[in-house]
Amino acid sequence: MSLNTEIIHSIPVDELTGAISVPIYQTTTFVHSSPGVHQGYDYTRSGNPTRKVLEDLIAQYEKGTTGAAFASGMAAIDAVLKLLKSGDHVIAGNDIYGGTYRLLTTIFKKFGVDVSFVNLQDDEEIIQAIRPATRLVWVETPTNPSLKIIDILAVSKITKANDLLLCVDNTFGSPVCQKPIELGADIVVHSATKYIGGHSDVISGLVVTSTKELGEEILFIQNACGAVLSPFESWLLIRGLETLELRYRQHSSNAFAVARYLNGQPWVENVYYPGLTSHPGHEIAFRQQKYFGGIVSFTLRDGTLEAVKQFTKAAKLFKLAESLGGIKSLIAHPVTMTHASIPKERHADFGLSEGLLRLSVGLEDADDLINDLATASRVLQTEGVLN
Ligand SMILES: Cc1ncc(COP(=O)(O)O)c(C=O)c1O
Repeated sequence: MSLNTEIIHSIPVDELTGAISVPIYQTTTFVHSSPGVHQGYDYTRSGNPTRKVLEDLIAQYEKGTTGAAFASGMAAIDAVLKLLKSGDHVIAGNDIYGGTYRLLTTIFKKFGVDVSFVNLQDDEEIIQAIRPATRLVWVETPTNPSLKIIDILAVSKITKANDLLLCVDNTFGSPVCQKPIELGADIVVHSATKYIGGHSDVISGLVVTSTKELGEEILFIQNACGAVLSPFESWLLIRGLETLELRYRQHSSNAFAVARYLNGQPWVENVYYPGLTSHPGHEIAFRQQKYFGGIVSFTLRDGTLEAVKQFTKAAKLFKLAESLGGIKSLIAHPVTMTHASIPKERHADFGLSEGLLRLSVGLEDADDLINDLATASRVLQTEGVLN
């Protein structure tokens, strides 16, 4: 059975009524039949039947044991980092999502957790960074915005040999693209705000663990700290899951077409897309991922801020906005938008430059998207902004 069919049919029919759509249990509390006796739920922060369906589904798709749903991707990441204690050390990729970087270097630093940022494509660099206090390695792949590919299996060999936890942020991939737990990860997190929600209408996060013990720790943190996903938003994610395979496949196919187009344009300097054979991570992506993904980054040959402003204004189908993974195509300028919090001296690690643009390629027809970019470039050429 294909993954698409499996996903559609794994979403349960309601046993009580036969409803084909999962019911939304919009309730805070549950009536007990006698003190301490209830039907499995007592208070929605601790557990809710709609949220439980979502949590079980994501655990199934990620090949883990336990799922937990949170009010945002950052709340999910926060919960994983709360597995640590003061004095622990984390090794993280040197170009991870800016919000994760900020959480580690401000909030968790305040509580005594230290972090080293390294190039996770280099096994030796990871091994050199390991200290007696190291507890966790944090991987994001593909990375944002330069779409570097980290070899999850290679990193997991190091974490297993050194008794470290490996957490993979699978936001850009989604479980239909890659399954980090099968490659040796202990924990997977998602900003489900992106591909899993898929319609740019719900902020949400998910955690999946590879063992029941780790899952119990995460569920304890979820209940103790309280950043849970609401029943309605859980339902929106379940609905997103139903079309995830179909959407992700089309996002990837459109992004590949856009990347191929950009790759041949004289007004484009570099194109970053793991599907292109020229991409340094192409072979690992080919082995590790089922699709190459929906994000394409590129630099304008005239990399000035003025050219970037004019280009993003001239593009009409690509809306200038943060975020990614929704059905509508978006264009972002990482230096002034998504990565504005990254200090200038770290721009090289992230592959950031003033002329870099990131496309979240949506589900419009690929030809229309390519025409939109072509028209934007012609407007600039006519006005003499681009050569
Ligand atoms: C890779 C990655 N991880 C985590 C997050 C944080 O997720 P959220 O915005 O849902 O809190 C983002 C947000 O852009 C992201 O891109």
